[in-house]
Amino acid sequence: MAVSKLLSLTLFITFLCAVNNGRVEATHEIYPQFQSLSAVSVHQLHRTAFHFQPPKNWINDPNAPMYYNGIYHFFYQYNPKGAVWGNIVWAHSVSKDMINWKALEPAIYPSHRFDRKGAWSGSATILPGNKPVILYTGVDPNDRQVQNSAVPANLSDPYLRKWIKPAGLNPVVDPEAGVNASAFRDPTTAWWLSGHWRMVVGSKRNHRGMAYLYRSRDFIHWIKAKHPLHSAPRTGMWECPDFYPILLSGKQGLDTSVLGKQVKHILKVSLDVTRYDYYTVGTYLTDEDRYVPDNTSIDGWAGLRYDYGNFYASKTFFDPAKKRRILWGWVNESDTTSEDVRKGWAGIQAIPRIVWLDPNQRQLMQWPIQELETLRGTNVKMNHQMLKTGDHIEVKGISAAQADVDVTFYIPSLDKVEAFNLGWSLTDAQLLCAKKGSKVQGGIGPFGLLALASENLEEYTPVFFRIFKSSQKHIVLLCSDARSSSLKDGLYKPSFAGFVDVDLTDKKLSLRSLIDHSVVESFGAGGKTCITSRVYPTLAVLENAHLYAFNNGTETIIVENLNAWSMKKPLRMN
Ligand code: FRU
Repeated sequence: MAVSKLLSLTLFITFLCAVNNGRVEATHEIYPQFQSLSAVSVHQLHRTAFHFQPPKNWINDPNAPMYYNGIYHFFYQYNPKGAVWGNIVWAHSVSKDMINWKALEPAIYPSHRFDRKGAWSGSATILPGNKPVILYTGVDPNDRQVQNSAVPANLSDPYLRKWIKPAGLNPVVDPEAGVNASAFRDPTTAWWLSGHWRMVVGSKRNHRGMAYLYRSRDFIHWIKAKHPLHSAPRTGMWECPDFYPILLSGKQGLDTSVLGKQVKHILKVSLDVTRYDYYTVGTYLTDEDRYVPDNTSIDGWAGLRYDYGNFYASKTFFDPAKKRRILWGWVNESDTTSEDVRKGWAGIQAIPRIVWLDPNQRQLMQWPIQELETLRGTNVKMNHQMLKTGDHIEVKGISAAQADVDVTFYIPSLDKVEAFNLGWSLTDAQLLCAKKGSKVQGGIGPFGLLALASENLEEYTPVFFRIFKSSQKHIVLLCSDARSSSLKDGLYKPSFAGFVDVDLTDKKLSLRSLIDHSVVESFGAGGKTCITSRVYPTLAVLENAHLYAFNNGTETIIVENLNAWSMKKPLRMN
């Protein structure tokens, strides 16, 4: 049996065996003893500088990102009382550039019967007349998950500080007979088609992942369609579905309701079984109101991921100001829960990314929003630098613990590329990365960057390529390997990896890494494959962190062009 299949089966069995302990089912670990334990002091060492992170406590999913009258709004699942999941409210921040933020009071919190036991994830839709409305999941006193709506109390408040739940209307969607009421959540942004709004709620029926489809004329009365928008067997609960159109070519984003010949659709689901985000590229058959993935896209955990690292419960929105679709994703800790409690915080958001369709039409491309570049400070460059076998050359002169690095490697010859062993799985890059690591010599690679490295390399997080050849073509592996990232024990240190669907005719591979104290967020080949790792160095911290370019392959690699910047800390929005 292929390793990936075995892994899928093991994960699935683990999933089947998971005991729910009678608690409300959002599969976040529950630590009653820590839920309301406020931090005495907040530990700063591994806090990020330019990623979105509140001053303390637990955060998870991004909720209802939107743009309204010149302001970006960002909501997120937040525990105001502690550094583990629990007491969840919708925290609210506003920004003019998605980099500098101002924190406001929580916008949505348990207040009524229909959300007494939780105000969980949801999305915003801007209705005609420029009227935002939020749909979110409430957990009622019987632990039933229902969908509710909330609207701004005062549309002329530029920050939309206060949100109200219109009297007598909620819940707007109840789980009807046949729907699993404890697995029925995370409504999407709605789209408009022939006289009705449509939205999707994530669920499961036995072990089948479900994207239940609802229709409404007025955004108040919702009726469940006879069949789901899409579903897939043996994929378990679909959390945080996201469904949107994408242009066949170009980087421009589209409003969620746009249809037409120039458009494909993306369906993303967050698989509770594996805790990663998967998407398919496909077609929205409007006559049938069904979504069908292309035959190049696979449902479930053998499919495409936004990010092959730590990235979950993501959500996109259309930014009408800059005509782009932006992706937000939650990056959880890889530290132990007791350390999270000691630190007084847990969870960050990835840098917002624009998404567009790869010209090959088989996958998405992603890139950090251009606004991030306003934080770039001191710049150093490396040009036409040879990297011979065993070299690691320091990139000096920047704050290596808080940096943006963009490098293009040139591969003079692909002749000595190692063979791809047919026994290896093409769907399990992580296993291959674990086997090969950054030190096992190959032909072409491993080569790349050593981020958050201590001077004598007791600690380092390598982000690197390794190239193989199968009978037909080159196979490019991108790894972000946390195994040597910290001398500390007890951390989760995975060898995250993904394959990069790229042809090497120009013999170039690019890599951009955003390094921010305890996160390394990387974009391979211009955003074809992204990997986010959480790491907690003990020596490679603050000014003791170093950055190197390295090559451990037999063949020379050239750093054609490297730019690295020290990154500034955002200011609060004023
Ligand atoms: C995903 C999730 C959602 C749920 C929320 C609760 O991380 O489990 O399905 O709405 O978190 O915080």
